[in-house]
Amino acid sequence: MNVQSDRIIIFDTTLRDGEQSPGASLNLDEKLSIAKSLARLGVDIIEAGFPYTSPGDFEAVQRIAEVVGIEGGPTICGLARARTEDIARAGEALKPAHKSRIHTFIATSDIHLKYKLKRSRSEVLAIAPEMVAYAKTFTDDVEFSPEDAGRSDPEFLYQVLEAAIDAGATTVNIPDTVGYLTPGEFGALIGGIKKNVPNIDRAIISVHGHNDLGLAVANFLEAIKNGARQLECTINGIGERAGNAALEELVMALYVRRQYFNPFLGRPAESEEPLTNIDTRQIAKTSRLVSNLTGMTVQPNKAIVGANAFAHESGIHQDGVLKNRLTYEIMDAESIGLTNNLIVLGKLSGRHAFSTRLKELGYELSETELNKAFVRFKEVADKKKEITDWDLEAIVNDETQQPAELFRLEFVQVSCGDRACPTATVTIRTPEGEERTDAAIGTGPVDAVYKAINRVTNIPNELIEFSVKSVTEGIDAMGEVTIRLRHQGRTYSGHAANTDIIVASARAYISALNRLCGALQRQQSDATQAIATI
Ligand code: KIV
Ligand code: ZN
Repeated sequence: MNVQSDRIIIFDTTLRDGEQSPGASLNLDEKLSIAKSLARLGVDIIEAGFPYTSPGDFEAVQRIAEVVGIEGGPTICGLARARTEDIARAGEALKPAHKSRIHTFIATSDIHLKYKLKRSRSEVLAIAPEMVAYAKTFTDDVEFSPEDAGRSDPEFLYQVLEAAIDAGATTVNIPDTVGYLTPGEFGALIGGIKKNVPNIDRAIISVHGHNDLGLAVANFLEAIKNGARQLECTINGIGERAGNAALEELVMALYVRRQYFNPFLGRPAESEEPLTNIDTRQIAKTSRLVSNLTGMTVQPNKAIVGANAFAHESGIHQDGVLKNRLTYEIMDAESIGLTNNLIVLGKLSGRHAFSTRLKELGYELSETELNKAFVRFKEVADKKKEITDWDLEAIVNDETQQPAELFRLEFVQVSCGDRACPTATVTIRTPEGEERTDAAIGTGPVDAVYKAINRVTNIPNELIEFSVKSVTEGIDAMGEVTIRLRHQGRTYSGHAANTDIIVASARAYISALNRLCGALQRQQSDATQAIATI
């Protein structure tokens, strides 16, 4: 059977390789809301996790398979080492999905074989097809990856790929695991596979790459020119070490430069048929969701989704853009879902106008979420005359992207100034429902607030990142605070928006503490279950 694709397949691994970023760990609800957003974005495949690694990962893959892997939705994929236990666990987790894929991998580079696997080439050549065949007993859709392909001997790689395809792999994925290759080399590697693997027409060639040298996206684009048809990527490029290839950069490169890429897919250069299935207008929203939930902020100059990506600072540029946008802009901010619609609502706007605008912006809120968001909107509208779409998104994200509320901030007050000792008082409702008030002094107002919160909550942790940015321009803008803290080697993030950045800072800290406590509660209940089953 000839398995080929006349467009580029987008395989999103934000929830698997992306979640391997230091400190990006997500809970089940958060993974589910990212998976729903990826489905709205139009990705073809969601790699939802690595089910064998933990009960939490298993449950997340299973739940995403159930809720997002419905008919008409994306294929849900689970990662598995080339071992029967891993593959069986992935097969089990993926059962509820309408379309499921098992992605199994084993390393092929000599350095991995010698030091990590302690296996010979002939052993790997036997294991790969055997495990692909085993994965086929769970689903027809099996992807095989020779890990560290970028540093593997190409002749050995061809043999392993041929064996994996003979055993039934329908996608062969070529990872540059350590982000070592340059675009020319990666393109040549894919071209070599296309030419030298005799049965390659029976599988889709996929690419996977890390950004250690900042070349992942360039490498993928070169791979497409040489026959790759599936791209493994993550939102905002998050992932192990320097991250993975960024989905938004790949998709927009293929969209903006479609005339250049069309002929490599056998289309006339002027064809307007999209090269991917992605709804590009969902990009900005998905990027913000991933950044808010992982606590991994996006650098302002990041391509496509950075805050400055569409800003023109210099007078010459501004003048040119005003005369004709095309002088300095190769794409329209609206194409990634950024709106130009500025002043939309104010304090006299009612619930209907509020919910209509949210629907127009693509938000589907439950009745409870809408009620909570509307109360917040009224509070903000009392302080800020004009509420823009950006403010609305910040309000809704702040209300809907929060972990289960264990601690609740009831009150915060600070006094500070150049002659004052920064002092904060907080009142917090504990998970047991008790209201506790305490106060502390600090080096600055945020430090004082965090110390006061620590006195009440009593959870030892280390604050490792604090960032504040304004949602819009202007002196009355809302501030968004993102923080990350570490507890027993794990990182937890918190995010909040408010017109008062001290309140936003306090709420972001409580949000991170709630994530931390939620994770501790889950660990305890997993341990209790494990003891009960012994
Ligand atoms: O980077 C890598 O090699 C991987 C594989 C599991 C595909 O993530
Ligand atoms: Zn990877």
